[in-house]
Amino acid sequence: MDYCKNNSRKKIIIAIDGYSACGKSTFAKDISARIGYIFIDTGAMYRAVTLYAINHGMIKNGKVDEQTLIAALPDIKIAFKFNPDRGASDIYLNGHNVEKEIRGIEVSDAVSLVSQIGEVRSGLVRLQQQMGVDKGIVMDGRDIGTVVFPNAELKIFMTASEEVRVERRYKELLSKGENVSKKEIAENLRARDYADEHRAISPLRKADDAILLDNSDMTPADQMKWIMGILDKLTCM
Ligand code: DC
Repeated sequence: MDYCKNNSRKKIIIAIDGYSACGKSTFAKDISARIGYIFIDTGAMYRAVTLYAINHGMIKNGKVDEQTLIAALPDIKIAFKFNPDRGASDIYLNGHNVEKEIRGIEVSDAVSLVSQIGEVRSGLVRLQQQMGVDKGIVMDGRDIGTVVFPNAELKIFMTASEEVRVERRYKELLSKGENVSKKEIAENLRARDYADEHRAISPLRKADDAILLDNSDMTPADQMKWIMGILDKLTCM
């Protein structure tokens, strides 16, 4: 249900970046459902490449065989297909739905190694830019407002306290039947945030023109109310 007076909205690009597990994808998905935009979770793309590397024995003892992975990049086909049950697109790796598999702790623990490889990033950034050519898109990740769409009309940078993020991720994994301790989750989030902020290529940082959103004490409904105030001004025709 859209609330612009004449029900028509301009198509813009909404870039959402921020720390791990602060609800970026849920927020982006809710926005896209509300205003009829396409939602792309770019973290899922880095996770899918990581899953490929794991399945092909390219990650051993905390190290990626970078040259083998780079050589295999042309064989890694990533696509999204809308899943009406979830109200969002599932990710497909070489034709297989891997939406569930990429969320496990094994992929989460290795994804920072893969997402720091320049060739992986440039390939995925190109794909993401193609997905946004017609605008009308909400994309979440770590470098969307800084690298993928530096000219995005709306940029949000999200954060939340560590305690809140751990609790949210714990509940999410528990509901999916994954038995992971809060300590393990906290360690994974800390390690990924550090890797995201300190990698040489496209590190996580707030774009100068991004709006900061700390959602530690906000419900999803609070966040929607906040963003719709901004979006109505920017996009209602
Ligand atoms: O959003 P997520 O937690 O599912 O993302 C998984 C990892 O992918 C995250 O640890 C960092 C990386 N990532 C990235 O480097 N650039 C993006 N645009 C999105 C994710």
